[in-house]
Order: sequence, then C-alpha cells, then structure tokens
Amino acid sequence: MKKFINPTMPLIESGASARADTAMRPEAAARGALLELRRVNRSFGGVHAVRDVSLSLRQGEVIGLIGPNGAGKSTLINVITGVHPAQSGQILHWGDRIERMKPHQIAARGIARTFQVVQPFPEMTVLENVMAGTWFAGSKGGRKEAREAAMAHLEFTGLAALAEQPAAQLTLANRKRLELAKGLAMEPKLLMLDEVNAGLNTAEVDKALGLIGAIADQGITVLIIEHLLKVVLTLCQRVVVLHHGELIADDTPGNIVRNDAVISAYLGARFAQRLKEGS
Ligand SMILES: Nc1ncnc2c1ncn2[C@@H]1O[C@H](COP(=O)(O)OP(=O)(O)OP(=O)(O)O)[C@@H](O)[C@H]1O
Ligand SMILES: [Mg+2]
Repeated sequence: MKKFINPTMPLIESGASARADTAMRPEAAARGALLELRRVNRSFGGVHAVRDVSLSLRQGEVIGLIGPNGAGKSTLINVITGVHPAQSGQILHWGDRIERMKPHQIAARGIARTFQVVQPFPEMTVLENVMAGTWFAGSKGGRKEAREAAMAHLEFTGLAALAEQPAAQLTLANRKRLELAKGLAMEPKLLMLDEVNAGLNTAEVDKALGLIGAIADQGITVLIIEHLLKVVLTLCQRVVVLHHGELIADDTPGNIVRNDAVISAYLGARFAQRLKEGS
C-alpha cells in the first residue's frame, strides 16, 4: 500500500528541536565511525535494491532514513544486519569488516533492529519473546537473568502488565512496543527502527517519540526509518535519503526539507509550497 507524508502535520522549523541541535560527544567524534558502509550493493533478481551506498554513522547520533516505498530502506537494514548480505562493498563496525558475518554475530556486536512487519513468536508470552532477544545477541546469562533483563525492558516500553500474555493477543501498537523491547534486549549500541510508528494513531506516535528519545538519551545510536516527517524532524540530527536504492542526500533535517532532489523524489511540490508559505 502506498504511504504518504501526513499533509496535516504542522511543519517544524528546520532543526528546531532541542535534540536536533545536540552536539556529538567529543570522545565519540575522536573514535571515528561506529558504522561505515563503503559502496554497498544488494540486488534481488533484476531489482537493484541498494546501489553503491556509502554512509557513516557516528556514535550518539539519531539518524533518519527516508525515501519512497521500495527505495531500499529496509533492505539497507537487512544488509547491515546480515539478513540479506551485501553482494559487494564493505561494512565496517568500529573498523572491523562485518559484511560476511551471520546475523547473530552482528547482533552480538551490539547492532540490533526492529522488523517493519512485526513477527513475534505468537504462542510465546510477551516476556518470553523479549527473553529470546537477549539470547539471540549472545547473552551468556541463564533464565533468571534473561527474565529480569526482559522485565526491565517491558517496564521501559510500558508492557510489563502484559508480560504473561501470548504475543498473538497484542494490539498493533503493543506489538510495535514489543519489537522495541526485543531490540533493547539485545543490549544494542546501535538500534535500527524500521517504521515502528506505522499504523499508530497520533497519541501512540507521541508515546513512541518519547520512548525513542529516552533510548537515544541512554547513549544508544538510533537509525530510524520513518514516513512520518514529524518523527524525523523532531528526533533526528541528520537525515539520509534513498531513492531507487541510491543515497541522494545526507544532511541536516533543515536542509533536507529544502533539497530539490529530495522534494522531487519524495516530499513533493505540495510540501515545498507549504514550507515556503511557512504554514
Ligand atoms: N527479499 C526480497 N526479495 C525480492 N525482492 C526484494 C526483497 N526485499 C526487497 N526487495 C525489493 O527491493 C526493493 C526495495 O525494497 P525495500 O523493502 O528495501 O524498500 P523500502 O524502502 O523499505 O520500502 P517501504 O517504504 O515500502 O518499506 C523493492 O523493489 C522490493 O520489492
Ligand atoms: Mg521498508
């Protein structure tokens, strides 16, 4: 289904949020890139889903990843996490090559993600689903430790009261929160969120914004795939744009919304006009 930017959303002044102005910590800047992609490619049959993408993520950043449907956003996360490995190019995590590693090895390095189409283990309880996240990322702790850690993540995401329910019974908003809790259970340093707000109502989105902000405040680097510009402009210091698998822009939110290539590929003329009028 085609998704559109919400046209009723008030435009937010470029980089106006406190978070968007947050400077990177100096020690992080000195260490270089947390993750670096060098000319990464991934095709499926004749579809070149990710094309020669080069990109650096620095520790402590909150980065938005936007682009039209089919632009290659989810594929980029799948490539980074080893689900659909890169067919060429390099991916470096703190300088180590990881593009041939298995998903669980990449998760064990502190790189976690949520899935666009949420797929909890439906028969398992909410708590057990989160415990599974802990083990996937290589935790050596036993059941008791996993349970305690999982409960803390359920408290954080507001799901503690539903811990013993089968995951299949959750509403969409709660399934999205469960995805977040599972991601956090992997104790990530980098968490990539694939449309965690899709299908949520305004109040639920606001709640999710608070949660994502709190995750970033813990020092976790966050990459957010998002169609709601409000979320991107509120949370992100930097936005990268994919179009037909290619990275067409990498800039501050304020510059991205005025970038002609981004307007023509994604935001649309109507958006640009409203921005000009300051509505
Ligand atoms: N496992 C797969 N097998 C075949 N084709 C795929 C696969 N995954 C992605 N593609 C194709 O790659 C292209 C990019 O898809 P991708 O899901 O990465 O886009 P997206 O930017 O995440 O889109 P959306 O905003 O709709 O989620 C599309 O043409 C898609 O059909
Ligand atoms: Mg996607």
